[in-house]
Amino acid sequence: MFALRAGAVVAASMVTALAAQAGEVEVLHWWTSGGEAKAAKALQATLQAKGHSWKDFAVAGGGGDSAMTVLKSRVVSGNAPAAAQIKGPSLQEWAQEGVLADMSDVAATNQWDKLLPPVVGNIMKYKGKYVAVPVNVHRVNWLWANPEAFKKAGAKVPTNWDEFFAAAEKLKAAGIIPVAHGGQNWQDFTTFESVALGVGGTEFYKKALVQLDQATLKSETMTKVLTTFKRVKSYTDKNAPGRDWNLATAMVIRGEAGMQLMGDWAKGEFISAGKKPGVDFICTAAPGTAKAFTFNIDSFALFKLKNEANVKAQKDLAAAIMSPEFQEVFNLNKGSIPVRLGQDMSKFDDCAKQSSKDFVDTAKTNTLVPSIAHGMAVSSAAEGAIKDAVSNFWNSDKMTVAQAMDKIAAAARTK
Ligand code: BGC
Repeated sequence: MFALRAGAVVAASMVTALAAQAGEVEVLHWWTSGGEAKAAKALQATLQAKGHSWKDFAVAGGGGDSAMTVLKSRVVSGNAPAAAQIKGPSLQEWAQEGVLADMSDVAATNQWDKLLPPVVGNIMKYKGKYVAVPVNVHRVNWLWANPEAFKKAGAKVPTNWDEFFAAAEKLKAAGIIPVAHGGQNWQDFTTFESVALGVGGTEFYKKALVQLDQATLKSETMTKVLTTFKRVKSYTDKNAPGRDWNLATAMVIRGEAGMQLMGDWAKGEFISAGKKPGVDFICTAAPGTAKAFTFNIDSFALFKLKNEANVKAQKDLAAAIMSPEFQEVFNLNKGSIPVRLGQDMSKFDDCAKQSSKDFVDTAKTNTLVPSIAHGMAVSSAAEGAIKDAVSNFWNSDKMTVAQAMDKIAAAARTK
């Protein structure tokens, strides 16, 4: 009897202790499409399994521009969320403001330095201390294609830009929209970046879009890139302006359009629609980019918090994000690959396996490059200015290639 009562007392005090430690984590993200929302749910479930509660702070808008605007106003008013989806050089910008929390203890306990490729770990650190935790590696230089549409058109899935335009002509002749595109500036920029990589190669890409070298931005190669980029537009439909990226993916899923140039979050949409890679859809490197990899790493910056229970919850979330279980379930839904080294890939499809292999291979050959369109390559100010210039050119009927080149080069000087 006594033993039973004592047991009950211990159990009750454990519940109290758990409840006392349970915190809330408010998470800002922009994962609202079908595949993205499933991945976000996996994050939520992981946190809740630790006994904490999740406060969803989703701000719709592909590429995250709207989310960043909302985040700024929240932080300025002294009301930062616990975690926010922030990437690349922007992490340094936020850390400089002194608002990010030091996660060194979590990183040391969980051996992040050993588990992350140095190229990734360095992005997450400010002055040697972890201020963010990565969730995945997205590859941006992909082309998605509908095999039925290609069959109907008698077209071959392209591996270079000549083949791309030949396939586009055939799709058009068969009454299929050749290229599914969403006319939003970040999507125009995503297309531009893949064209730049495919037409110019990795050395050009690095000089022009990472180092922002003026001479390269005004070169012969840049002329070719811009001409090719604008030619892609002629194969998009008239309803493209303003369209969300996932609606463009849905056009390829339905076979209404033949191809889409988009990062592998698009795969999350195919998967969430029950489609099988290699059967219902094809993933292949964007034309001319098979030996290169534009990386886009999603990460969560952790903001300084006052409430102790919430700090504990925030640290539990950061630790859980790097666990192999989370990396698997999240990335299976998201379309990306795990960021953790040595992760078991047996449950992943061929697109992910290819991506994983290419991520490692391109790192060795120096053809692994940061995505400028997805906030990995340059400061947010320069990125925004170049993105606008590129998008203006895409949308203008009057701007010449030479004028576009000047505008882009001028935008690249933005500090
Ligand atoms: C993010 C992805 C997201 C995509 C579309 C990218 O910038 O890295 O996680 O799925 O935008 O919203």
